[in-house]
Amino acid sequence: MQKLNLTITLETYNNDTELSVLENKLLNEARKATYKSYAPYSNFHVGAAILLDNNEIITANNQENAAFPSGSCAEQSAIFWVGANHPERIIKAIAVIARPGKEDIFRGVPPCGACRQAMLEYEVRQKSPIRFIMVGANQQILITESVGDLLPIKFTDF
Ligand code: THU
Repeated sequence: MQKLNLTITLETYNNDTELSVLENKLLNEARKATYKSYAPYSNFHVGAAILLDNNEIITANNQENAAFPSGSCAEQSAIFWVGANHPERIIKAIAVIARPGKEDIFRGVPPCGACRQAMLEYEVRQKSPIRFIMVGANQQILITESVGDLLPIKFTDF
């Protein structure tokens, strides 16, 4: 028996001001998008912002439903909207953040497995990596160079 160790690399930033101007703006747009989320069941408002190759920013958020599986995570709301409206554009980066409750307090949210798979499909389709920006503990910012890094041993790997 051998063991195979898989590693991923995360860029870490101590706060927003260490980010590039564009990525700082992207994360801020994700924060703003939490205020338009529809999350009466979980009260967990998630915002996502997508940076396109023409520097346009698209935002979306989670949209819940009384029939629970019918809701949409913020990342999927955002990426599917881009797929529907800008299928020719390259996605450069995606930022995501959560605001639990009614106050202006934000926390990180690592994307769920289904969102990782959904975002990966767009990365594979466009044949160029999508930077993924999220928030970790103590408001530290974590960035992967590719959403594929978030999903080792992918459905499409073998
Ligand atoms: N949610 C997201 O929007 N993105 C994630 O990556 C994880 C979870 C949403 C789904 C649901 O509306 C709420 O957060 C609570 O799970």
